[in-house]
Amino acid sequence: MKESLGAQTMSFPLPAYLVGSYDENGKANLMTAAWGGIVCSTPPCLAVAIQPSRLTHPSIVKNKAFTVGIPNSRLAEAVDYAGLVSGRKHDKFAATGLTPVKSQLVNAPSADDGPVILECELYQSLELGSHTLFVGRIVDVKAEVGLKTDSGALDLSKVDPLIFNCGGDYRQVGPAVGQAFSIGKNLKA
Ligand SMILES: Cc1cc2nc3c(=O)[nH]c(=O)nc-3n(C[C@H](O)[C@H](O)[C@H](O)COP(=O)(O)O)c2cc1C
Repeated sequence: MKESLGAQTMSFPLPAYLVGSYDENGKANLMTAAWGGIVCSTPPCLAVAIQPSRLTHPSIVKNKAFTVGIPNSRLAEAVDYAGLVSGRKHDKFAATGLTPVKSQLVNAPSADDGPVILECELYQSLELGSHTLFVGRIVDVKAEVGLKTDSGALDLSKVDPLIFNCGGDYRQVGPAVGQAFSIGKNLKA
């Protein structure tokens, strides 16, 4: 039996991205964003939904670029902080001790401390209502050396991405339950 929970923004799991951008004075800033994900393969795109009140919003519009950091679970405290205060009043890199690095390919910074960074050029914007959906074209993915499996893919356990549980806390990923594009074949015949 199901119960109706009403129209609300609920989905599991959610990422806890660290969106990096330069403000109008060229100061590096980070903002936590849970509303986002991969949205296109050709061109490779990732979208984040950001409210106009965030400093990050005009920064992305001005520079037409942003980075998306996938932090690991050890960065939970810094990630939460980056979602609690604005870069308008706080230097989030200084407060967290995270190290700002300029992206090689786009005009945006990222925190060098996280395992994976996606460098994005602003590709399209969509005004949805409370949030603007910024679609970024991924121009490169930078990953910490040593995180790959033998097949060359990034190892989820080694990346240890921080997960936002919209029920209120941060989590780590759990164990695998089956091989994708494979276990379903059992039902094909
Ligand atoms: C876990 C978490 C997820 C968040 N996700 C979003 C989001 O997807 N979009 C958004 O506009 N704000 C989101 N926020 C709020 C912003 O991160 C917050 O307003 C931040 O202070 C904005 O920083 P800025 O003004 O330096 O850009 C989130 C905050 C937290 C803690």
